[in-house]
Amino acid sequence: MVELALPRNSEIRKGKTWPKPVGAKKLKVFKIYRYDPESGKNPSWDTYTVDTAQCGPMVLDALIHIKNDIDPTLAFRRSCREGVCGSCSMNIGGRNTIACTKGHDEISGAITISPLPHLAVMKDLVPDLTNFYAQHTYVQPYLKTTTPEPQKEWKQSEGDRKKLDGLYECIMCACCSTACPSYWWNGDKFLGPAALLQAYRWIIDSRDEATGERLDDLEDPFKLYRCHTIMNCAQVCPKGLNPAKAIAEIKKLMVERVT
Ligand code: SF4
Ligand code: SF4
Ligand code: FES
Repeated sequence: MVELALPRNSEIRKGKTWPKPVGAKKLKVFKIYRYDPESGKNPSWDTYTVDTAQCGPMVLDALIHIKNDIDPTLAFRRSCREGVCGSCSMNIGGRNTIACTKGHDEISGAITISPLPHLAVMKDLVPDLTNFYAQHTYVQPYLKTTTPEPQKEWKQSEGDRKKLDGLYECIMCACCSTACPSYWWNGDKFLGPAALLQAYRWIIDSRDEATGERLDDLEDPFKLYRCHTIMNCAQVCPKGLNPAKAIAEIKKLMVERVT
């Protein structure tokens, strides 16, 4: 029988409230999703109060402070701390973004932090991105050519290079795909905005010689056409990119090649 309510073990319970720092000057409350599948316990919201005078200005700084000085069991991903690697993506204050470029003073009141939505959770703020990376692999995000390699480099005009602006900057943070309702419901078949933006980045690269093959690989009812132009992807991208536009351009190329 179809289960219409959430299973009991997925209900998020009230978790631990950690003590306030003594003598703190600038207090900020963080409500953070905690879950350890191996514990057999339900997920919970833990409440931490941070003296933000003791850490840097970004949400990631506060998380690192919590992990170093309050609760070392908190799990989250991060690497570059500069908005480059895409690993600190999470849902902050109800919106997907990267924690290292989001200021904690940009959100008034308590800040709620949970993992990227609609993915299996490995622990706390760490989602399972296996399918997301498999979709990236599927679009073959590298130069494909048949002509013999030039001695020095593949040349590109300034105008052709410009066509890659707004595409090459993608850091594969997955904020867009996990904000996309079509991806929530069909994430196993619809490639999602991040992978499709990458696909388009190679389709329009003047040096690439596999355009037809790349379009063939997207030609089915789900991989590309599940995008219904809801635009959540463009609204959340922390790099200001517009995957919906890239998807629309691929759809145009699909039409052009049959007319
Ligand atoms: S525009 Fe397309 S890819 Fe972007 S959120 Fe909407 S359905 Fe998803
Ligand atoms: S398009 Fe933007 S939101 Fe999507 S993966 Fe790339 S950087 Fe992240
Ligand atoms: S830590 Fe690399 S993007 Fe945030």
